[in-house]
Amino acid sequence: MRIIHAKDYADMSRKAANIISAQVILKPDCVLGLATGSTPIGAYEQLIKWYEKGDVDFAEVSTYNLDEYRGLGHDDPQSYHYFMNKNFFHGINIDLANTHVPDGANPDADAACAEYDRMVEAAGYPDLQLLGIGNNGHIGFNEPDSVFSKGTHCVDLTESTIQANSRLFESIDDVPRQAYTMGVQTIMRARSILVVANGPKKAQAVYDMCFGPVTPACPASILQLHTNCTVVADEEALALCH
Ligand code: GLP
Repeated sequence: MRIIHAKDYADMSRKAANIISAQVILKPDCVLGLATGSTPIGAYEQLIKWYEKGDVDFAEVSTYNLDEYRGLGHDDPQSYHYFMNKNFFHGINIDLANTHVPDGANPDADAACAEYDRMVEAAGYPDLQLLGIGNNGHIGFNEPDSVFSKGTHCVDLTESTIQANSRLFESIDDVPRQAYTMGVQTIMRARSILVVANGPKKAQAVYDMCFGPVTPACPASILQLHTNCTVVADEEALALCH
């Protein structure tokens, strides 16, 4: 695991965007695994700026997002599909037909998840997987558990995740209780992984991810076993790692 210290959120975002743009420049038809949440927004904004300047071209890139709330269609403003269009895809020249998010509108969880796994496998898995980290160490929506998950599956969100994500909804009752998420095994199949984290609320999770035991109680800890994983975090998120 490579740990890159960033001064603050802006610095973290620029450094992460640099790594993503290098991937796209080196392999224009690469597969990117993408993440939602507040953390990657700054990196997406930076990539949009570089695209506008002509420095990076997404015409041949395809993307697979980690997760989606179960029950939300792609045009629901709270869906991750909508989030990706708004915060990234609409700002760059990616072909929307090459962007993929699990189908939250499909109530048949087994079918929706199996179809997503089939697509990610057919694409050959991401060249670079971008990840945020939950306050409890979750990646995608793989919550702390007694085993590491495998492929895409339907999860019950924990109270702490529902609480943390409620800031983006009008009321906590509006937060979906379930989500479809890529599994830990699928995430580990990416050829490289980039984790972004900022702020004091992530300090414990970042410490556990980098230096704690490898355990499904902290799903991100398995990233210690990946051969090409980079963590870009700001000083507050790295506060316990010194
Ligand atoms: C959600 C997403 C995760 C994300 C996490 C942290 O639960 N499913 O992919 O990493 O939130 O979000 P934030 O970056 O807003 O702290």
